[in-house]
Amino acid sequence: MLDIKITKTTTPKEKPADESKLGFGKKFTDHMFLMDYSADQGWHDPRIVPYAPFNLDPACVIFHYAQELFEGMKAYRTADNQIQLFRPECNAKRMQDSSDRMCVPQVPVEDFIQAVKTLVEVDKDWVPHSEGTSLYIRPFVFATDVGMGVHASLNYTFCIICAPSGAYYAEGIDPVRIYVEDEFIRAAPGLTGFTKCGGNYAASIKAGDLAAKKGFAQVLWLDGVEKKYVEEVGAMNIFFMIDQKVYTAACVGTVLPGVTRRSCIELLRDWGYEVIEGKLAIEDIMKAGHEGRLNEVFGTGTAAVVSPVKELSWKDDQVFIGDGKIGPVTQKLYDTLTGIQWGRLPDSKGWVVPVCKG
Ligand code: COI
Repeated sequence: MLDIKITKTTTPKEKPADESKLGFGKKFTDHMFLMDYSADQGWHDPRIVPYAPFNLDPACVIFHYAQELFEGMKAYRTADNQIQLFRPECNAKRMQDSSDRMCVPQVPVEDFIQAVKTLVEVDKDWVPHSEGTSLYIRPFVFATDVGMGVHASLNYTFCIICAPSGAYYAEGIDPVRIYVEDEFIRAAPGLTGFTKCGGNYAASIKAGDLAAKKGFAQVLWLDGVEKKYVEEVGAMNIFFMIDQKVYTAACVGTVLPGVTRRSCIELLRDWGYEVIEGKLAIEDIMKAGHEGRLNEVFGTGTAAVVSPVKELSWKDDQVFIGDGKIGPVTQKLYDTLTGIQWGRLPDSKGWVVPVCKG
């Protein structure tokens, strides 16, 4: 159990007055959690302090060799004013897996959860009230050694910040257009695709920018070897329903093991759908689309929740999914998942972790 020292701000910020204009990850709460690591002391000095900039040496390893990783999760306010988390142990374990790959010391699962819960409780008034809004929580760890040698740092900081947020996409729950990336790749076997390290996202920005200029919300990444099989989308995992069977890429090292992905697979299987985690060629998806067999396509992610896709564009080919509106299975997943997260539906899976009264 961590002994977290709490220092509250004496100058609280103004909370967003209009929750319909929150956007995603733009404004941050009054406090942040910090904990340091050194080779001789291990993780130590857990504390909650007023949100403030870091004072870091320009030669810090993080700035040069990007030894860092992060997580994304949310706190929800229910109608009866409980604040709750969704499967925080999945994020804690995933951060340990990312840490292992990036040679970063692991934060124990129970310490991670305690840190998140304590910070959310301190900043509970920042958890927004309106439909579809939540407190986005961003835990991250970064290397703080000073020096230019390329090797694992001996010192790290674990930090958690929070941002009251609305929908990730400007489209909200409206279906998005996706560009299938045929030149750049996101991951390859043996690399860091399964981790939430910033480098994965940095490497994706160029393709995302080019696709955005063409009016697409996100890029769909193909495998890094043959550029043949679908893997994931910029900020989401992705699912394809063909002939009423649901396909998604397997998490075999190049794909992020999403918490929402895993929850949707469990729900779909409970509902009797066959879910196939494996290789699915983009060519077969486009063919199914042209033959009217591509029933629904949707992305899943903590930030994006469940996001319907209305169009896929690959090379010179386009397929339009359904009638451009959210499909029934996507809608049911969205309603069920958000129902559990916001406490509108019973949590029969034991996914919700209460934090405090709001
Ligand atoms: C999340 O869904 O929480 C993520 O971390 C994706 C991020 C790129 C917004």
